[in-house]
Amino acid sequence: MSETPDRQRAGIIGWPVSHSRSPLIHNGWIDQLGLNAHYDSCPVSPDADFRGVLEVMARAGFVGANVTIPHKENAYRAADRLHPAAEKLGAVNTLHFQDGEIIGSNTDGAGFVAALDEATQDWRDKPALILGAGGATRAILAALAEAGVKDIRLSNRTRARAEPLVDLIADSDATCRIIDWQAREDAAEHCGLLVNTTSLGMQGGAALEMSLDGLADGAVVNDIVYAPLETDLLKAARAAGLVAVDGLGMLINQAALSFETWFGVRPPVDQALRDRLVADLGEH
Ligand code: ATR
Repeated sequence: MSETPDRQRAGIIGWPVSHSRSPLIHNGWIDQLGLNAHYDSCPVSPDADFRGVLEVMARAGFVGANVTIPHKENAYRAADRLHPAAEKLGAVNTLHFQDGEIIGSNTDGAGFVAALDEATQDWRDKPALILGAGGATRAILAALAEAGVKDIRLSNRTRARAEPLVDLIADSDATCRIIDWQAREDAAEHCGLLVNTTSLGMQGGAALEMSLDGLADGAVVNDIVYAPLETDLLKAARAAGLVAVDGLGMLINQAALSFETWFGVRPPVDQALRDRLVADLGEH
């Protein structure tokens, strides 16, 4: 396809980025909406002059970019201006090049909340239990507090890694209690939401041992990994009559919010897109 001069560009910056599904998602929306744009994979090595790379991209016609591992903190430092979620998290997943400025935002938390809301709205008024304390956990914890969950419990194998995360919600009405990993099942008692942000349950990895018995009726169980898509945790949730939300929901919804930032239109989040992603995951 030949490039027209006014063609807008966006892309994903990471290292590596070859595994990313973002090009599939965004180029699908670009085609569907008939935009004159393209979304690229942009491998940027960890030791690159990150701000310099962004300036080159802006000159080359990029309207913005997604940012993934290991550059989310670099993007935070490189931005001229930050939206509140990015400011709070110290991490940027979406850059917008606008009027000579580099603006950083973070759509991970809002994408996570949108994915839960697609399934049910009945999770805000009950306690929530989060397992894990990695990069994604921070966005999820802050988003839950902002969405109105008052009682949040956070359990991680390494307790000391979870403890500093409490500061993220210090300015909210929510409380966050750190739970010893051995006590996670007791902490699930009456929870309306369980989120697994650990790497347990991923393809080829160790299993997550977690009884769902104490959860409230109709609770939502979410796994943020999507390889496999249907984890043992989600299978167990469905078998127990709970609401299972897989990792594609957050992936698609954070992408939709980024897309809207650059192109000014909210793209369709529909079953056809999910089906394309599921097929792609099956092939790789
Ligand atoms: P990230 O890249 O998001 O920072 P990570 O370092 O790979 O994620 O860790 C993901 C999460 O899975 C962490 O919360 C990790 O717990 P620790 O902080 O104790 O390392 C958790 N995790 C990984 N393997 C685990 C295991 N075998 N048992 C319990 N938790 C585990």
